[in-house]
Order: sequence, then structure tokens, then C-alpha cells
Amino acid sequence: MKIVVIGTGYVGLPHAAVLSEYGHEVHAYDIDETRIAAYQSGEAGNIERYVNEPGLADIVAENVNRYLFFTTDVTGVVEETDVFFLCINTPPNRDGSTDMSYYLNAIHHLGNLLAQRHNKQRVVLVNKSTVPIGTARLLESVMREHGVENFGVASNPEFLAQGNAVEGSRRPDRIVIGADTLEDMEILRRLYSQFVNHVRIRYLETTPETAEAIKYVSNTLLLTYISFWNGVGGRLAEAIPNIRMEDLKVGVTADARISTWGSYVSNGAGGSCFGKDIQSLIYQLNHAGRPTDLLRAVYNINEYQKIYLIDRAIHEAHFNFNQKKVALLGLSFKKRTNDMRDSAALRVAESLLSRGVATIQAYDPLAMDEARRNWFNPEKNYLYERITYHDSAVEAIEGTDALYISTDWEEFRGLARTIRTTVKPPYLVIDGRRMLPDFENLVAAGYDYLPVGGLLMRGRSNSSEAYSENDQAIPAIDELPQQVPA
Ligand code: UDX
Repeated sequence: MKIVVIGTGYVGLPHAAVLSEYGHEVHAYDIDETRIAAYQSGEAGNIERYVNEPGLADIVAENVNRYLFFTTDVTGVVEETDVFFLCINTPPNRDGSTDMSYYLNAIHHLGNLLAQRHNKQRVVLVNKSTVPIGTARLLESVMREHGVENFGVASNPEFLAQGNAVEGSRRPDRIVIGADTLEDMEILRRLYSQFVNHVRIRYLETTPETAEAIKYVSNTLLLTYISFWNGVGGRLAEAIPNIRMEDLKVGVTADARISTWGSYVSNGAGGSCFGKDIQSLIYQLNHAGRPTDLLRAVYNINEYQKIYLIDRAIHEAHFNFNQKKVALLGLSFKKRTNDMRDSAALRVAESLLSRGVATIQAYDPLAMDEARRNWFNPEKNYLYERITYHDSAVEAIEGTDALYISTDWEEFRGLARTIRTTVKPPYLVIDGRRMLPDFENLVAAGYDYLPVGGLLMRGRSNSSEAYSENDQAIPAIDELPQQVPA
């Protein structure tokens, strides 16, 4: 089939590449000429500067100019195209609603092009990026406004997680198609023919509105799992001695009805989807006059979780951040990406700076350039000058009074040893990702350890001026009272 993919970012490029692997003729369109030139070169370095996904550059290199074409002008292919995919970015507005301006520009442009078709064969216009419920209907009305003939609209949401775009596209859990007519369903069945009767892939056909809602409900449910574990399981293990977080997870998720996904307690979920989608759904439900208590609680728990350990450091460990040096390790929102959108590290840094730290010594295996972009601008916050950038975890830890692990990069699992050889106790290790399996050695050597989903453990050394003067000595773990705090 002949396909046009409009928008070649994190959603559009993997989608276009994988469709071209199936032997469709795919024209990937973007208004950004430098981006298109980079993809057209077929070189990994150029492609990954825009979308860095394992395996993606290889597929592009293999199919470019054979099945996959990059362009900033689709006028020439409009006549024979069967399906247009809209993969346009839809960032959030300040009030949580969705900024539809890029999307609207694109569909008006498309409407103009399609209105001039001579060939009046059926064409299906598919929303792939996450758009508010009702957007397929909006797309339909814009096309009518332009006088486009013989078209159908559909919703086919993208469920990919970052770092897994290629694998996720090749072997999705489900393909959800929301369309109004059998004719359009048939066209999309031909497009996804290898998935239609697949034994392990759910191929669901429904209304456009249901398909749009499936995307929002999926993402908000996933975030609900995370907030549940952070807000319930984690809180219990942080308050009551002798609860083993990992065993709690195993015991609960052994029930086949309960997901293991989301049970990894952390310092909050970030990324470009969860926060944006839940805010948008809250906005859409509010707009429909419906209560949103659960969604607001989930959102708030997740946002607070990003700075919760700083509060614990102050109130439980009685650590006084004023004029201290703190290493911040892991800046991206999850491992194996340089993406810092909605990352906990951004909130942690803001919180530390507002509490008067002398410096934040930052390190991430991939996100240093991204971090400089985020924090370079002293006009945004003059305190960003207090952030220094380092080439390794050791370098970031040197000379600090405390460290905060914010991302679950594998290399941090060996940090206990690095800490012992780099800094001396009294020293506070704040672990937002439960990354130190050998924390007990650290505590035995005198370091204080404050993990998410676990009790504060005092090192056996002694207190120091690192802690505030009126510090009420916190008992070592085995001395804690066996009762639930009020
Ligand atoms: C997510 C959804 O998984 C995907 O289906 C959707 O299409 C887009 O949003 P992504 O943002 O790439 O994908 O990241 P994901 O791997 O889901 O992680 C999101 C955040 O949750 C990360 O910060 C991650 O570290 C955190 N997380 C995840 C937890 O804190 N605990 C967990 O158990 C799982």
C-alpha cells in the first residue's frame, strides 16, 4: 500500500520505518528540512540525533529510497496514497489541555492538498499521536470544510514505550482501530494484515472515540499502578520496620489478576506521556462536568514523589541541605534514554537549590547535553549556576556531603563501592530507585542510607555538622520502635 506518515518524531519515524519493513511504500513527511536530510542520509549518527531507538537506524538505512522515502513535500504522492498517518506532536498547555496548534496546521495543510486530488479513490486519515477524545471527529469536519471527497477518518493510537519502539512496533500487544465504516476498517486490515488474525496480538476494531479513550485510560491506569505502589506499598515499608519491599511486591503480584508492572517503587514516573496524558484526561473530564478525584490523586502522588525523599532527608535524617554539596546521579526520566522531559531529576534539582545547596554535582551516562540545555539558562533560574556537570559518577561524588540517585541506570548498582572509596562518612545516600543491593555494607561502614520504599538506616559512625544542630538522634534500624506512626 502507499502510505504517508506526517510528522517524523518519536512516534512517526519508528512507525514509518516498521511499515516500510512490511513492504508498504512509505513517504515520511516533516516540515523540518534538516531533520528530513538527516534521515535521508541513512546514517545512524544523523538519525539518532533526532530519534534514538535501538534498531531504528538499521531499518531506515536498509529501506531508505527503496520502501521508505523522506520528504518535505508530499504533493507528488497525494493522488495514489491509501492511508495518511498523523504523528504530530501535541504538547500540553499550562492548564493541562492539549496544544493542538501543530496538529491543526498539519490537517489544514493536508485538507488543501487532498481537496485538489483528481483521483477520487478512498483515502483514510488516521490519528496516531495522542489527541483528545473527539479529534477524529474534528479531523473529519476540517476535511469537509476544505471540500475533500471520499475520505474516512480513524484513530489508531500508539502505545510504544521509549527505548522499545522498534520491538514494540514489530510485536505489539494490540492494534486498536477506531473507524466509522467497514470500508475504512478493510483498508486498515490490509495495512496491518500480518496482525489481523495473529494469535498473540489483539486486533480490536471499534469507534474512533473508543480508540482515543483507550489510549488515555491505558496511560492513566499505568500511572495509577505506579502511584499506588509509591503511595501505599512504598509508604508502608518506609514507616514500619521489617517490611521487605521486594517480598511485598512478589507476594502481592503473585495474584494473576495483579500487574507486576508499576510495582517498582521509585522517585516518581516521568517522560513525555504519563504526566501530559493524565493532565489532559483530567481537563477533558472536567470539561465534561465529571469528577476527577482519582486522577488528581494519582497525578499529585506522582508529582510529590519526585521530591518526597528530600522531605524525608530533612524530617527523618535531619539533614540540613543549606550550603551542602550534593551529587545528583541520573538525570533522564528512565534508564537508556537522554530524555529529561518531566524527569524527577528536574524537580529534585529545583528542590535542592531552593533549600540552599552550595552546588549540585550532576552526572548522567547519556543526558549531559540535555541537562546543560535544561539548566544552562540562568535567566530561568539564577540558581542554575550552582549546578556543575561531570563526566562520571566518581567525579560527581567527589567532595560532596550527600548523593541522590534519581534514575535506574544499571551502572549505579555498583555505586556502594565507589561511595566508600570516594567520600568518608558522615555522608547521606538518598536512593530514589533502590539501586544499591549491598547497602548494608555501606551502612556498616558508617554511611547513612535513605531509600525509597525502605526505612532510613543510620550509619554507625556518629552525627556531624552535616546534620542540623537540633538533630534528634535517629535510632539505628534495629532500635526503631515497632509501631506505626500516627
Ligand atoms: C509510557 C507507556 O509505558 C507507554 O505505553 C506509552 O505509550 C507512553 O508512556 P514511556 O514514557 O516510554 O512509556 O516510559 P515507561 O517505561 O512506561 O516509564 C515511565 C516512567 O515510569 C519512568 O520514569 C519509569 O522509570 C517509571 N516507572 C515505570 C516506575 O517508576 N515504576 C515502574 O514500575 C515502572
